[in-house]
Amino acid sequence: MQEINGIQMRISYNKLWKLMIDKNIKKGQLQAAIGVSKGTMAKMGKNENVSLSVLLSICEYLNCDFGDIIEAIPEDKCEVSQTPYYLSYENRYQKVYAAGATCWGHSPDDEILIKALSKWVADNNLQGKPIIEYACGEGSCGIILSKLGCIYHGVDIAPTAVEKSKSVLNDFSYATVSQLDMVNEKVAGEYDAALDVMGYHMLVTDADRQKYLKNVYDSLKLGAHMLFFRESYRTDAYDGVVNSFAEWKIISGSDYETPEKRSVTNNGHNIEVLIPLVPARARTKDGYIREMTAAGFVIDDIVEMDINMQCPYSASIYVHKAV
Ligand SMILES: C[S@@+](CC[C@H](N)C(=O)[O-])C[C@H]1O[C@@H](n2cnc3c(N)ncnc32)[C@H](O)[C@@H]1O
Repeated sequence: MQEINGIQMRISYNKLWKLMIDKNIKKGQLQAAIGVSKGTMAKMGKNENVSLSVLLSICEYLNCDFGDIIEAIPEDKCEVSQTPYYLSYENRYQKVYAAGATCWGHSPDDEILIKALSKWVADNNLQGKPIIEYACGEGSCGIILSKLGCIYHGVDIAPTAVEKSKSVLNDFSYATVSQLDMVNEKVAGEYDAALDVMGYHMLVTDADRQKYLKNVYDSLKLGAHMLFFRESYRTDAYDGVVNSFAEWKIISGSDYETPEKRSVTNNGHNIEVLIPLVPARARTKDGYIREMTAAGFVIDDIVEMDINMQCPYSASIYVHKAV
């Protein structure tokens, strides 16, 4: 760590980890290619300094510049600077596709989803209007909304999901998809409506949730509607503040190191696969109301949903941006 003008700065390798995901390069692969010890890799994992020659070897291997792999971050922003916990969904997509699955999240044929989106589009006159979907996953809602006549834009942080979305939406000329961290990046332009299907509950710290809601709010026109579909909802959910992912691990009692066994359909056969456990945070009804209203949304309805496979206890939250 280095102190400059009273600000403590720390090196961050966040850009390197993102670049490696984009290029589908594993840490072991990088270590072997540049010929460094596990200790050096561990140092980078902890945002500690390594020698310039190591950084130069990485640049040679990835054909990039220093600024593409490292940056200087104020110490108090350090948790954001590390690979964000919510990027872990990328590993999940990679694992299930490798096991032969063609779709992991919601299917474009999900009748409950189609019914809810059709009513939402009709009730709010969204046909022919630009709609953004945050945490779009594999583009299933993009298919449904495009068929309903909406001008769809989907964003997700996981490169594998973004690629999948682009390919399934290829036939819909108005549909677009891009890679974006909805917590730390803003979309350009203003939309007539926004959709989030099981995306918000992937954010566990209060700061990340607030940043995301602000980004969403800023991306909407006055009076625009938003639907949070199948949000994790429990009457006994933890209702206090969560300051960090480390704190969430203690509260949730999980280290997220042990993968979970799930069933994947490969050519009509069910096979079992071990996939990374991803953090998700349920909320009580009051918890959701507090968060949404603090972000400036007006709540129109909160509908408790039937127990289902996608997210056992869930609710759909209908809100709009005040005029
Ligand atoms: C449970 S999946 C839901 C995917 C899709 N909406 C569906 O229902 O099939 C959660 C999605 O949130 C995405 N995600 C998590 N954190 C994100 C972030 N900060 N920015 C953008 N997408 C994020 C994940 O990559 C993943 O695709």
